[in-house]
Amino acid sequence: MSRDEVFSGTAARGSDFVFNEEVATVFDDMLTRSVPFYLEQQKLIEEIGSQFYVPGTSIVDLGCSTGTTLIRLANRVTSASRLVGYDNSQPMLDKAKENLEEAGFADKIDLRLGDMNDNLGDILIENASVVTLCWTLQFIRPLKRDALIKKIYNGLVDGGVLIVTDKVLTNDSNMNRFFIDFYYDFKRRNGYSEEEILKKREALENVLIPFRVDENFELYRRNGFQIVETFFQWYNFAGFLCVKSES
Ligand SMILES: C[S@@+](CC[C@H](N)C(=O)[O-])C[C@H]1O[C@@H](n2cnc3c(N)ncnc32)[C@H](O)[C@@H]1O
Repeated sequence: MSRDEVFSGTAARGSDFVFNEEVATVFDDMLTRSVPFYLEQQKLIEEIGSQFYVPGTSIVDLGCSTGTTLIRLANRVTSASRLVGYDNSQPMLDKAKENLEEAGFADKIDLRLGDMNDNLGDILIENASVVTLCWTLQFIRPLKRDALIKKIYNGLVDGGVLIVTDKVLTNDSNMNRFFIDFYYDFKRRNGYSEEEILKKREALENVLIPFRVDENFELYRRNGFQIVETFFQWYNFAGFLCVKSES
């Protein structure tokens, strides 16, 4: 796994964060060092996914990046024959393709280029029982989020699940500061310098827009989900399990 040094070095980075080739190359290291309990959260996603999978339906990963979740789900849910990953970054999909080939799942998992902000019509979600949206909703423009969640709801079979993991804001802004300070301590413990932490924070400022936990609940409920639960929270990171339960 190549080490994430995207924000190291002395040159100031003025531009917004993008999922380009440089990021794709180090992405797996970046996430293990930047998302608290990343592998444990993947484990929970895999467990929930296997619990809710309905034979004959599909599994869709939105914002699949390098294919980590898809590979884990394909390994765990052995009866699943139709897994699809969408991402709007070609470098991420190229890396995912390499990883799928290495894991022996290139024939089983379909990778597709698609943009959930501007071309939602290109994203096909049909007859799915498991849809995952992991650390990706935060990159979708807030005004576009309702349409996306509604589309996911409509594409799920009854009893199907949407699994979301994301950064979250606290209700109280002072508490937010406090949680983010703990988060930066976590990044320091994982070897990121002050400069790397600051530069990445600046690059993500206009790009990553988290909702509060209650805003997340409202978003999923008003777009149809009858059951919404939190399955994970670590300071400013949370996981939501949203079930379509019509009957
Ligand atoms: C933080 S990563 C997701 C991590 C991944 N789901 C995992 O579990 O390791 C966010 C991903 O969303 C993709 N993305 C961001 N905006 C998007 C959009 N508008 N449409 C589709 N994909 C998008 C990025 O290219 C990136 O691969």
